Amino acid sequence: MNTDSHSNIPRHIAIVMDGNGRWAKMRGKSRFMGHKAGMDAVGKIVKMAVEKKIEVLSLFAFSSENWSRPTEEINYLMQLFSDVCRNQIKKLHEHNICVRFLGDLSRFSSTVRKDMEGAARMTQENTGLKLMIAVNYGGQWDLVQAFQKIAARIASGELTAQAIDAQLVAAHLSTAGLPDPDLLIRTSGEERLSNFYLWQCAYTELYFTKTLWPDFDEAAFEAALHEYANRERRFGAIPQAKSKHQ
Ligand code: FPP
Repeated sequence: MNTDSHSNIPRHIAIVMDGNGRWAKMRGKSRFMGHKAGMDAVGKIVKMAVEKKIEVLSLFAFSSENWSRPTEEINYLMQLFSDVCRNQIKKLHEHNICVRFLGDLSRFSSTVRKDMEGAARMTQENTGLKLMIAVNYGGQWDLVQAFQKIAARIASGELTAQAIDAQLVAAHLSTAGLPDPDLLIRTSGEERLSNFYLWQCAYTELYFTKTLWPDFDEAAFEAALHEYANRERRFGAIPQAKSKHQ
């Protein structure tokens, strides 16, 4: 649990970037153009996250369910991922950003996988923003793979079942070592987690906006941060002032 009390800037922001298709449709453009515009919004928000000294930015870029989209759209998204890894990675590296792709990478082509692994390797020592790009990610998948690893350690006699606690589970998730998200933003008016960070969002503040992802700009990001700063996070406890009188 993240209990950073000396700052009202979130340490970790997770974003479900939704609405690229609707943005394109409203303009009579192809869904591809929606994703391209979505990519431009990613650039703006990453830049702002660096400026605001956010520690971790997690972007849900491709869910396990997205494989059911038309092949051409999937291929286009794969090209965007490779483009980030091949053409934009130097710029991210120069800004001291550490990039990692989270999710079940085994379903991607070996070319895309190599691109993702190369980008991660190049930036792994960077100490600035940690940019987590969730691809073929599902919160249930993450928990299942964590349980499999734990079960294997128990089967080998390295651990006992009694040793399982919340900390141990967290240490086997793909987000091990990262603070949990303080704020989760979802664009386009949908108000669901859609199988993103299920475990990690136990105490996360949820922020939903009708703005479509390609329109999510600096002002929209500021509005989300402002709303977060005014929320009272209690982590299940009672408010400070009240507890003094009880
Ligand atoms: C959701 O909009 C968006 C996606 C499934 C893809 C998001 C990808 C990007 C913004 C570009 C790549 C990003 C990175 C970080 C490399 P939708 O298509 O579901 O929109 P709709 O709900 O309006 O149809």
